[in-house]
Amino acid sequence: MWGGRFAEGPSAIMREINASIPFDKQLWRQDIAGSRAHIAMLAAQGIVSAEDAVTIDGGLEQIAAEYERDGVPEDWDLEDIHMTVEARLSELIGPVAGRLHTARSRNDQVATDFRLWVRDAMERADAGLAALQRALVTRAGEHTGSIMPGFTHLQTAQPVTLGHHLMAYYEMTSRDRSRFADARARLNECPLGSAALAGTGFPIDRQATSDALGFGAPTRNSLDAVSDRDFALDYLMAASQCALHLSRLAEEMILWASQPFGFIRLPDTLSTGSSIMPQKKNPDAAELVRGHAGRIIGCATSLMITMKGLPLAYSKDMQDDKPPVFEAAGLLDLCLAAMAGMVADSAFDTVRMRAAAEAGYATATDLADWLVTEAGIPFREAHHITGAAVKLAEERKVALDALPLTDLRAIDARIDERVFAALSVESSVAARSSYGGTAPEQVKQRVEQAREALGLD
Ligand code: ARG
Repeated sequence: MWGGRFAEGPSAIMREINASIPFDKQLWRQDIAGSRAHIAMLAAQGIVSAEDAVTIDGGLEQIAAEYERDGVPEDWDLEDIHMTVEARLSELIGPVAGRLHTARSRNDQVATDFRLWVRDAMERADAGLAALQRALVTRAGEHTGSIMPGFTHLQTAQPVTLGHHLMAYYEMTSRDRSRFADARARLNECPLGSAALAGTGFPIDRQATSDALGFGAPTRNSLDAVSDRDFALDYLMAASQCALHLSRLAEEMILWASQPFGFIRLPDTLSTGSSIMPQKKNPDAAELVRGHAGRIIGCATSLMITMKGLPLAYSKDMQDDKPPVFEAAGLLDLCLAAMAGMVADSAFDTVRMRAAAEAGYATATDLADWLVTEAGIPFREAHHITGAAVKLAEERKVALDALPLTDLRAIDARIDERVFAALSVESSVAARSSYGGTAPEQVKQRVEQAREALGLD
Protein backbone atom coordinates (compact mmCIF):
# COMPACT_ATOMS: atom_id res chain seq x y z
CA MET A 1 0.00 0.00 0.00
CA TRP A 2 2.63 2.52 1.04
CA GLY A 3 5.37 1.20 -1.20
CA GLY A 4 4.22 3.04 -4.32
CA ARG A 5 6.83 2.82 -7.04
CA PHE A 6 8.94 0.57 -4.82
CA ALA A 7 7.46 -2.66 -6.11
CA GLU A 8 9.93 -4.78 -4.14
CA GLY A 9 8.76 -3.09 -0.94
CA PRO A 10 10.91 -1.93 1.93
CA SER A 11 14.16 -3.35 0.55
CA ALA A 12 13.87 -1.18 -2.56
CA ILE A 13 13.15 1.88 -0.47
CA MET A 14 16.10 1.12 1.78
CA ARG A 15 18.43 0.58 -1.16
CA GLU A 16 17.53 3.93 -2.69
CA ILE A 17 17.50 6.04 0.46
CA ASN A 18 20.76 4.48 1.66
CA ALA A 19 22.80 4.80 -1.52
CA SER A 20 25.34 7.61 -1.64
CA ILE A 21 27.24 6.22 -4.63
CA PRO A 22 25.42 8.55 -7.08
CA PHE A 23 27.31 11.47 -5.54
CA ASP A 24 30.13 10.10 -3.41
CA LYS A 25 31.71 8.42 -6.43
CA GLN A 26 33.36 11.82 -6.81
CA LEU A 27 35.57 10.72 -3.90
CA TRP A 28 37.11 7.79 -5.73
CA ARG A 29 40.60 9.24 -6.06
CA GLN A 30 40.70 10.17 -2.39
CA ASP A 31 39.28 6.80 -1.37
CA ILE A 32 41.92 4.87 -3.26
CA ALA A 33 44.72 7.15 -2.02
CA GLY A 34 43.50 6.62 1.57
CA SER A 35 43.38 2.84 1.11
CA ARG A 36 46.87 2.72 -0.39
CA ALA A 37 48.28 4.72 2.54
CA HIS A 38 46.43 2.43 4.95
CA ILE A 39 47.61 -0.88 3.45
CA ALA A 40 51.23 0.35 3.28
CA MET A 41 51.04 1.23 6.99
CA LEU A 42 49.40 -2.13 7.88
CA ALA A 43 52.28 -3.94 6.15
CA ALA A 44 54.97 -1.75 7.75
CA GLN A 45 53.45 -2.52 11.16
CA GLY A 46 53.32 -6.27 10.43
CA ILE A 47 49.49 -6.29 10.67
CA VAL A 48 49.22 -7.75 7.15
CA SER A 49 51.98 -9.56 5.28
CA ALA A 50 54.12 -7.66 2.79
CA GLU A 51 52.95 -10.06 0.09
CA ASP A 52 49.24 -9.41 0.73
CA ALA A 53 49.89 -5.68 0.84
CA VAL A 54 51.56 -5.80 -2.58
CA THR A 55 48.58 -7.72 -4.00
CA ILE A 56 46.09 -5.27 -2.48
CA ASP A 57 48.03 -2.22 -3.62
CA GLY A 58 48.28 -3.62 -7.16
CA GLY A 59 44.51 -4.20 -7.17
CA LEU A 60 43.84 -0.65 -6.01
CA GLU A 61 46.12 0.69 -8.71
CA GLN A 62 44.22 -1.29 -11.32
CA ILE A 63 40.86 0.00 -10.02
CA ALA A 64 42.14 3.56 -10.27
CA ALA A 65 43.09 2.95 -13.90
CA GLU A 66 39.64 1.46 -14.61
CA TYR A 67 37.79 4.39 -13.02
CA GLU A 68 40.00 6.86 -14.82
CA ARG A 69 39.16 5.20 -18.13
CA ASP A 70 35.52 4.14 -17.71
CA GLY A 71 34.16 6.11 -14.74
CA VAL A 72 32.85 4.61 -11.50
CA PRO A 73 30.05 2.03 -11.81
CA GLU A 74 26.93 2.88 -9.84
CA ASP A 75 25.45 -0.11 -8.02
CA TRP A 76 23.05 0.97 -5.28
CA ASP A 77 23.43 -2.35 -3.50
CA LEU A 78 27.03 -1.41 -2.81
CA GLU A 79 25.81 1.82 -1.13
CA ASP A 80 28.85 4.00 -1.42
CA ILE A 81 32.27 4.55 -2.94
CA HIS A 82 34.03 2.68 -0.12
CA MET A 83 32.06 -0.54 -0.66
CA THR A 84 32.22 -0.13 -4.43
CA VAL A 85 36.02 -0.07 -4.38
CA GLU A 86 36.24 -2.93 -1.92
CA ALA A 87 33.81 -5.08 -3.90
CA ARG A 88 35.80 -4.55 -7.08
CA LEU A 89 39.01 -5.33 -5.21
CA SER A 90 37.70 -8.70 -4.13
CA GLU A 91 36.57 -9.45 -7.69
CA LEU A 92 40.11 -8.72 -8.84
CA ILE A 93 42.24 -10.35 -6.12
CA GLY A 94 39.88 -12.61 -4.17
CA PRO A 95 39.50 -13.01 -0.39
CA VAL A 96 42.80 -11.29 0.43
CA ALA A 97 40.95 -8.04 -0.39
CA GLY A 98 39.20 -8.47 2.97
CA ARG A 99 42.44 -7.65 4.81
CA LEU A 100 42.33 -4.02 3.65
CA HIS A 101 39.58 -3.10 6.08
CA THR A 102 41.61 -4.20 9.12
CA ALA A 103 41.85 -1.48 11.79
CA ARG A 104 39.60 0.99 10.06
CA SER A 105 35.91 1.71 9.53
CA ARG A 106 33.96 3.53 6.86
CA ASN A 107 33.54 6.27 9.45
CA ASP A 108 37.21 7.25 9.57
CA GLN A 109 37.52 6.37 5.89
CA VAL A 110 34.84 8.81 4.74
CA ALA A 111 36.09 11.51 7.11
CA THR A 112 39.56 11.14 5.58
CA ASP A 113 38.37 10.99 1.96
CA PHE A 114 36.17 14.03 2.39
CA ARG A 115 38.94 16.06 4.03
CA LEU A 116 41.22 15.26 1.11
CA TRP A 117 38.53 16.35 -1.36
CA VAL A 118 37.77 19.57 0.49
CA ARG A 119 41.50 20.34 0.78
CA ASP A 120 41.74 20.23 -3.03
CA ALA A 121 38.64 22.42 -3.32
CA MET A 122 40.26 24.99 -1.02
CA GLU A 123 43.35 25.01 -3.20
CA ARG A 124 41.25 25.44 -6.33
CA ALA A 125 39.41 28.35 -4.72
CA ASP A 126 42.71 29.99 -3.88
CA ALA A 127 43.99 29.55 -7.43
CA GLY A 128 40.73 30.95 -8.85
CA LEU A 129 40.91 33.93 -6.50
CA ALA A 130 44.54 34.56 -7.46
CA ALA A 131 43.55 34.63 -11.14
CA LEU A 132 40.76 37.09 -10.40
CA GLN A 133 43.18 39.25 -8.42
CA ARG A 134 45.65 39.31 -11.29
CA ALA A 135 42.87 40.62 -13.54
CA LEU A 136 41.78 43.22 -10.97
CA VAL A 137 45.29 44.48 -10.34
CA THR A 138 46.13 44.62 -14.06
CA ARG A 139 43.03 46.66 -14.88
CA ALA A 140 43.50 48.85 -11.78
CA GLY A 141 47.05 49.58 -12.94
CA GLU A 142 45.69 50.80 -16.29
CA HIS A 143 43.21 53.09 -14.54
CA THR A 144 44.94 54.64 -11.53
CA GLY A 145 44.06 58.06 -12.95
CA SER A 146 40.68 57.32 -14.58
CA ILE A 147 37.96 59.25 -12.82
CA MET A 148 34.49 57.99 -12.05
CA PRO A 149 31.77 58.95 -9.60
CA GLY A 150 32.05 57.30 -6.20
CA PHE A 151 28.69 56.51 -4.66
CA THR A 152 27.11 56.27 -1.28
CA HIS A 153 23.42 55.29 -1.20
CA LEU A 154 24.02 54.85 -4.96
CA GLN A 155 24.00 58.65 -5.18
CA THR A 156 27.00 60.47 -6.62
CA ALA A 157 29.16 61.30 -3.62
CA GLN A 158 32.76 62.18 -4.50
CA PRO A 159 34.94 61.46 -7.52
CA VAL A 160 37.10 58.37 -7.15
CA THR A 161 39.48 56.62 -9.47
CA LEU A 162 38.47 53.44 -11.26
CA GLY A 163 41.75 51.89 -10.12
CA HIS A 164 40.77 52.58 -6.52
CA HIS A 165 37.35 51.00 -7.05
CA LEU A 166 38.85 47.84 -8.60
CA MET A 167 41.46 47.62 -5.85
CA ALA A 168 38.65 47.55 -3.27
CA TYR A 169 37.81 44.11 -4.71
CA TYR A 170 41.45 43.15 -4.48
CA GLU A 171 41.24 43.78 -0.73
CA MET A 172 37.98 41.81 -0.45
CA THR A 173 39.39 38.85 -2.35
CA SER A 174 42.58 38.99 -0.26
CA ARG A 175 40.44 38.41 2.81
CA ASP A 176 38.73 35.52 0.99
CA ARG A 177 42.10 33.95 0.28
CA SER A 178 43.12 34.30 3.89
CA ARG A 179 39.86 32.67 5.01
CA PHE A 180 40.52 29.66 2.73
CA ALA A 181 44.12 29.51 3.96
CA ASP A 182 42.97 29.49 7.61
CA ALA A 183 40.42 26.80 6.82
CA ARG A 184 43.03 24.70 5.04
CA ALA A 185 45.40 24.93 8.01
CA ARG A 186 42.65 23.83 10.41
CA LEU A 187 41.55 21.00 8.12
CA ASN A 188 44.98 19.50 7.86
CA GLU A 189 44.70 16.69 10.44
CA CYS A 190 44.20 13.08 9.49
CA PRO A 191 41.23 11.13 10.94
CA LEU A 192 42.37 7.76 9.52
CA GLY A 193 42.88 5.24 12.33
CA SER A 194 40.07 6.65 14.47
CA ALA A 195 38.17 3.59 13.19
CA ALA A 196 34.42 3.46 13.92
CA LEU A 197 34.57 5.90 16.85
CA ALA A 198 36.83 4.58 19.58
CA GLY A 199 40.15 3.90 17.88
CA THR A 200 41.49 0.37 17.37
CA GLY A 201 43.40 -2.33 19.24
CA PHE A 202 45.68 -3.02 16.27
CA PRO A 203 49.17 -1.51 16.56
CA ILE A 204 48.69 1.05 13.80
CA ASP A 205 50.96 3.99 13.04
CA ARG A 206 48.75 7.01 12.60
CA GLN A 207 51.63 9.38 11.94
CA ALA A 208 52.61 7.26 8.93
CA THR A 209 49.19 7.45 7.23
CA SER A 210 48.92 11.13 8.11
CA ASP A 211 52.31 11.79 6.47
CA ALA A 212 51.51 9.66 3.43
CA LEU A 213 48.34 11.65 2.78
CA GLY A 214 50.05 15.01 3.25
CA PHE A 215 48.37 15.94 6.53
CA GLY A 216 50.22 17.80 9.27
CA ALA A 217 49.33 15.40 12.11
CA PRO A 218 46.79 12.74 13.11
CA THR A 219 43.61 13.97 14.83
CA ARG A 220 43.73 13.66 18.64
CA ASN A 221 40.26 12.41 19.55
CA SER A 222 38.66 9.53 17.68
CA LEU A 223 35.09 10.51 18.59
CA ASP A 224 35.62 14.04 17.32
CA ALA A 225 37.50 12.84 14.26
CA VAL A 226 34.65 10.72 12.88
CA SER A 227 31.93 13.21 13.74
CA ASP A 228 33.66 16.45 12.79
CA ARG A 229 32.58 18.19 9.60
CA ASP A 230 33.91 21.62 10.59
CA PHE A 231 36.36 21.50 7.70
CA ALA A 232 33.46 21.24 5.23
CA LEU A 233 31.59 24.02 7.01
CA ASP A 234 34.74 26.17 7.04
CA TYR A 235 34.96 25.66 3.29
CA LEU A 236 31.30 26.54 2.80
CA MET A 237 31.53 29.65 5.00
CA ALA A 238 34.62 30.88 3.17
CA ALA A 239 32.92 30.02 -0.13
CA SER A 240 29.77 31.89 0.93
CA GLN A 241 31.66 35.03 1.83
CA CYS A 242 33.68 34.81 -1.37
CA ALA A 243 30.50 34.28 -3.43
CA LEU A 244 28.96 37.25 -1.68
CA HIS A 245 31.91 39.42 -2.80
CA LEU A 246 31.69 38.07 -6.35
CA SER A 247 27.98 38.83 -6.33
CA ARG A 248 28.59 42.45 -5.32
CA LEU A 249 31.15 42.86 -8.10
CA ALA A 250 28.76 41.21 -10.56
CA GLU A 251 25.98 43.58 -9.46
CA GLU A 252 28.20 46.59 -10.06
CA MET A 253 29.17 45.35 -13.49
CA ILE A 254 25.50 44.77 -14.34
CA LEU A 255 24.70 48.35 -13.30
CA TRP A 256 27.71 49.77 -15.11
CA ALA A 257 26.80 47.90 -18.28
CA SER A 258 23.24 49.26 -18.29
CA GLN A 259 22.55 52.05 -20.80
CA PRO A 260 21.87 54.86 -18.26
CA PHE A 261 25.31 54.19 -16.74
CA GLY A 262 27.22 53.12 -19.84
CA PHE A 263 30.46 52.77 -17.89
CA ILE A 264 31.52 49.41 -19.34
CA ARG A 265 31.03 47.10 -22.26
CA LEU A 266 31.08 43.51 -21.08
CA PRO A 267 32.99 40.98 -23.16
CA ASP A 268 30.84 39.42 -25.89
CA THR A 269 32.10 36.02 -24.81
CA LEU A 270 30.46 36.42 -21.39
CA SER A 271 27.18 37.99 -22.55
CA THR A 272 24.21 36.83 -24.60
CA GLY A 273 21.90 38.43 -27.13
CA SER A 274 18.13 38.61 -26.93
CA SER A 275 16.05 36.41 -29.22
CA ILE A 276 13.66 39.26 -30.09
CA MET A 277 15.48 42.53 -29.34
CA PRO A 278 18.47 42.76 -31.68
CA GLN A 279 20.07 45.73 -29.87
CA LYS A 280 20.38 43.85 -26.61
CA LYS A 281 23.43 42.44 -24.95
CA ASN A 282 22.60 40.85 -21.65
CA PRO A 283 25.02 40.44 -18.74
CA ASP A 284 23.91 36.84 -18.13
CA ALA A 285 27.18 35.57 -16.73
CA ALA A 286 27.28 38.38 -14.17
CA GLU A 287 23.63 37.79 -13.29
CA LEU A 288 24.30 34.09 -12.79
CA VAL A 289 27.28 34.85 -10.54
CA ARG A 290 24.90 37.01 -8.49
CA GLY A 291 22.33 34.21 -8.52
CA HIS A 292 24.78 31.42 -7.73
CA ALA A 293 25.87 33.25 -4.58
CA GLY A 294 22.42 32.49 -3.21
CA ARG A 295 22.82 28.81 -3.97
CA ILE A 296 26.28 28.67 -2.36
CA ILE A 297 24.97 30.33 0.80
CA GLY A 298 22.11 27.81 0.71
CA CYS A 299 24.64 24.97 0.65
CA ALA A 300 26.32 26.34 3.79
CA THR A 301 22.96 26.65 5.50
CA SER A 302 22.04 23.13 4.46
CA LEU A 303 25.11 21.53 6.07
CA MET A 304 24.80 23.61 9.25
CA ILE A 305 21.24 22.36 9.64
CA THR A 306 22.28 18.77 8.94
CA MET A 307 24.91 18.91 11.68
CA LYS A 308 23.27 20.96 14.37
CA GLY A 309 21.32 18.25 16.18
CA LEU A 310 23.68 15.30 15.88
CA PRO A 311 25.06 13.50 18.91
CA LEU A 312 28.57 12.02 18.78
CA ALA A 313 29.85 10.18 16.89
CA TYR A 314 28.67 9.16 13.39
CA SER A 315 25.05 9.33 12.24
CA LYS A 316 23.86 8.57 8.73
CA ASP A 317 22.56 12.12 8.37
CA MET A 318 26.21 12.96 7.82
CA GLN A 319 26.12 11.22 4.46
CA ASP A 320 24.20 14.32 3.35
CA ASP A 321 27.32 16.43 3.96
CA LYS A 322 28.68 15.84 0.48
CA PRO A 323 26.08 17.12 -2.03
CA PRO A 324 26.10 20.72 -0.71
CA VAL A 325 29.90 20.82 -0.69
CA PHE A 326 30.18 19.37 -4.19
CA GLU A 327 27.51 21.75 -5.47
CA ALA A 328 29.02 24.83 -3.84
CA ALA A 329 32.53 23.98 -5.05
CA GLY A 330 31.38 23.51 -8.64
CA LEU A 331 29.51 26.81 -8.56
CA LEU A 332 32.33 28.72 -6.88
CA ASP A 333 34.97 27.52 -9.34
CA LEU A 334 32.74 28.62 -12.21
CA CYS A 335 31.89 32.00 -10.66
CA LEU A 336 35.55 32.78 -10.02
CA ALA A 337 36.46 31.98 -13.62
CA ALA A 338 33.54 34.05 -14.96
CA MET A 339 34.44 37.11 -12.88
CA ALA A 340 38.13 36.88 -13.79
CA GLY A 341 37.12 36.88 -17.47
CA MET A 342 34.69 39.72 -16.99
CA VAL A 343 37.24 41.92 -15.25
CA ALA A 344 40.04 41.08 -17.67
CA ASP A 345 38.05 41.65 -20.86
CA SER A 346 35.51 44.40 -20.17
CA ALA A 347 36.04 47.72 -21.92
CA PHE A 348 35.79 50.74 -19.59
CA ASP A 349 34.29 53.93 -21.05
CA THR A 350 36.41 56.36 -19.06
CA VAL A 351 35.02 59.38 -20.94
CA ARG A 352 31.50 58.58 -19.75
CA MET A 353 32.69 57.77 -16.27
CA ARG A 354 34.46 61.12 -16.00
CA ALA A 355 31.41 62.97 -17.36
CA ALA A 356 29.20 61.23 -14.79
CA ALA A 357 31.58 62.26 -12.02
CA GLU A 358 31.23 65.89 -13.15
CA ALA A 359 27.48 65.74 -13.58
CA GLY A 360 26.61 64.95 -9.98
CA TYR A 361 28.32 67.90 -8.18
CA ALA A 362 30.73 65.36 -6.83
CA THR A 363 33.26 68.08 -5.95
CA ALA A 364 30.91 69.89 -3.56
CA THR A 365 32.92 68.52 -0.63
CA ASP A 366 36.03 70.02 -2.20
CA LEU A 367 34.42 73.45 -2.19
CA ALA A 368 33.52 73.03 1.48
CA ASP A 369 37.04 71.75 2.28
CA TRP A 370 38.52 74.75 0.41
CA LEU A 371 36.40 77.17 2.45
CA VAL A 372 37.75 75.51 5.60
CA THR A 373 41.42 75.43 4.66
CA GLU A 374 41.75 78.61 2.59
CA ALA A 375 39.11 80.91 4.15
CA GLY A 376 39.21 79.61 7.71
CA ILE A 377 35.44 78.98 7.81
CA PRO A 378 34.13 76.29 10.22
CA PHE A 379 33.13 73.14 8.32
CA ARG A 380 29.41 73.31 9.19
CA GLU A 381 29.16 76.85 7.80
CA ALA A 382 31.25 75.87 4.77
CA HIS A 383 28.80 73.01 4.18
CA HIS A 384 25.92 75.53 4.20
CA ILE A 385 27.65 77.91 1.75
CA THR A 386 28.44 75.01 -0.55
CA GLY A 387 24.78 73.96 -0.50
CA ALA A 388 23.84 77.38 -1.82
CA ALA A 389 26.46 77.11 -4.59
CA VAL A 390 25.18 73.66 -5.62
CA LYS A 391 21.62 74.96 -5.71
CA LEU A 392 22.66 77.81 -7.98
CA ALA A 393 24.60 75.51 -10.29
CA GLU A 394 21.57 73.20 -10.47
CA GLU A 395 19.33 76.12 -11.44
CA ARG A 396 21.77 77.12 -14.18
CA LYS A 397 22.30 73.45 -15.15
CA VAL A 398 26.08 73.85 -15.05
CA ALA A 399 28.99 72.26 -13.18
CA LEU A 400 30.21 73.89 -9.97
CA ASP A 401 33.41 75.14 -11.56
CA ALA A 402 31.38 76.72 -14.38
CA LEU A 403 29.79 79.24 -12.00
CA PRO A 404 31.28 82.72 -12.49
CA LEU A 405 33.35 84.01 -9.58
CA THR A 406 31.00 86.98 -9.10
CA ASP A 407 28.10 84.61 -8.43
CA LEU A 408 30.16 82.56 -5.99
CA ARG A 409 31.23 85.74 -4.21
CA ALA A 410 27.62 86.84 -3.99
CA ILE A 411 27.03 83.69 -1.93
CA ASP A 412 30.11 84.30 0.21
CA ALA A 413 32.59 87.11 -0.25
CA ARG A 414 35.44 85.11 1.21
CA ILE A 415 35.60 82.98 -1.98
CA ASP A 416 38.32 84.00 -4.47
CA GLU A 417 39.59 82.78 -7.84
CA ARG A 418 41.89 80.16 -6.30
CA VAL A 419 38.77 78.07 -5.60
CA PHE A 420 38.54 76.89 -9.22
CA ALA A 421 41.71 74.88 -8.91
CA ALA A 422 40.01 72.82 -6.22
CA LEU A 423 36.76 72.19 -8.07
CA SER A 424 37.86 70.00 -10.98
CA VAL A 425 37.40 66.24 -10.55
CA GLU A 426 41.14 65.81 -11.14
CA SER A 427 42.14 68.04 -8.27
CA SER A 428 39.44 66.44 -6.13
CA VAL A 429 40.89 62.92 -6.47
CA ALA A 430 44.47 64.20 -6.27
CA ALA A 431 43.63 65.85 -2.95
CA ARG A 432 42.40 62.58 -1.41
CA SER A 433 45.96 61.45 -0.80
CA SER A 434 45.56 60.13 2.75
CA TYR A 435 46.82 56.58 3.20
CA GLY A 436 44.35 54.27 1.45
CA GLY A 437 42.69 57.21 -0.29
CA THR A 438 41.64 57.47 -3.93
CA ALA A 439 44.46 59.77 -5.15
CA PRO A 440 46.20 58.25 -8.20
CA GLU A 441 49.51 58.37 -6.36
CA GLN A 442 48.07 56.29 -3.50
CA VAL A 443 46.39 53.82 -5.86
CA LYS A 444 49.64 53.36 -7.79
CA GLN A 445 51.37 52.36 -4.57
CA ARG A 446 48.64 49.85 -3.67
CA VAL A 447 48.79 48.38 -7.19
CA GLU A 448 52.57 48.05 -6.94
CA GLN A 449 52.30 46.21 -3.62
CA ALA A 450 49.60 43.93 -4.97
CA ARG A 451 51.57 43.13 -8.11
CA GLU A 452 54.48 42.14 -5.93
CA ALA A 453 52.29 39.98 -3.67
CA LEU A 454 50.87 38.23 -6.76
CA GLY A 455 54.30 37.70 -8.30
CA LEU A 456 53.42 39.85 -11.34
CA ASP A 457 56.23 41.71 -13.24
N1 ARG B 1 28.44 6.54 2.80
C1 ARG B 1 28.70 6.86 4.17
C2 ARG B 1 28.80 8.38 4.32
O1 ARG B 1 29.07 9.02 3.38
C3 ARG B 1 29.97 6.25 4.63
C4 ARG B 1 30.04 6.03 6.10
C5 ARG B 1 29.12 4.93 6.47
N2 ARG B 1 29.27 4.58 7.84
C6 ARG B 1 28.34 3.92 8.52
N3 ARG B 1 28.55 3.71 9.74
N4 ARG B 1 27.26 3.49 7.94
O2 ARG B 1 28.62 8.92 5.38
